[in-house]
Amino acid sequence: MAETNGDKATGQALKEKLGQVGGKVQDSQTWAAIFRPGSIFRKGYTDSPRNRSYVIMNSVLYHLHPVKVKRHAVKVSYTLCLGGLSFFLFIFLTVTGIFLMFFYRPTAAQAWDDIQTLQTAVGFGLLVRNMHRWGAHLMVLTVFLHMARVFYHGAYKPPREFNWVIGVILLTLTLLLSFTGYLLPWDQLALWAVTVGTNMMGYTPVFGEQVRFVLLGGVEIGTDTLLRWYTLHVLMLPFVLVIFLAIHFWRVRKDGGISGPL
Ligand code: HEM
Repeated sequence: MAETNGDKATGQALKEKLGQVGGKVQDSQTWAAIFRPGSIFRKGYTDSPRNRSYVIMNSVLYHLHPVKVKRHAVKVSYTLCLGGLSFFLFIFLTVTGIFLMFFYRPTAAQAWDDIQTLQTAVGFGLLVRNMHRWGAHLMVLTVFLHMARVFYHGAYKPPREFNWVIGVILLTLTLLLSFTGYLLPWDQLALWAVTVGTNMMGYTPVFGEQVRFVLLGGVEIGTDTLLRWYTLHVLMLPFVLVIFLAIHFWRVRKDGGISGPL
């Protein structure tokens, strides 16, 4: 159908009205608070070098990125992205772990039943549980391989020796996360694996008995052990890991980016 002059005028008026409302929104304090200087959504934006640098400075994601990255550092064949994969798996385990927390109660009377219910009656329960389990095995593997890669390239040498030490702490935390998670299904495998593990730690010279007592929350494995390991697994260890990860990434930046051929 042909457009009449009347339709054109109404369309024009609507456009003007929308333009006025848009202008008012852009002038508002709320808009200015959300879209910082340099954003293309600011009124009167121009593509100038100043605005381009503002975009980088005012965006948290861009700001985390280094200004310059060495050519070899972005080659997948150099790092094999093993550190990145370890980090991805940590995020993946956090997300799947939160899902599992909705259906799991850490007491000797309920833990095993909750896992059975999760697998048989909860939508995607079995899938998510297995993703969490396999993700955990994979993370131990990628962290170990990442350490081997760093060693192979001699990236533990100055100025990166401090970051190597942070890495060793990260490896220990990863192993502890894996071990504490092992008890949570409260099945025979978990019970006996943890009994053997804590007995071994009980052979620590001088204060072995005390170490065992602290880990078990008593003299033998029981519901107190479960609560203790659960809290370590879902809260304390991930919390400490995140802090050390932040230091680890910050050090990579401060040590001049990824190591490379001289
Ligand atoms: C949760 C565990 C870990 C995560 C998520 C992680 C993450 C990363 C990432 C993303 C990088 C950037 C380069 C790359 O991907 O290779 C990196 C570099 C580095 N990591 Fe890790 N890392 C972990 C554990 C470790 C361990 C166990 C060690 C050694 C004991 C270590 C030592 C280093 C060193 C020295 C660098 C600098 C490497 C270079 O400059 O070539 N990291 N890490």
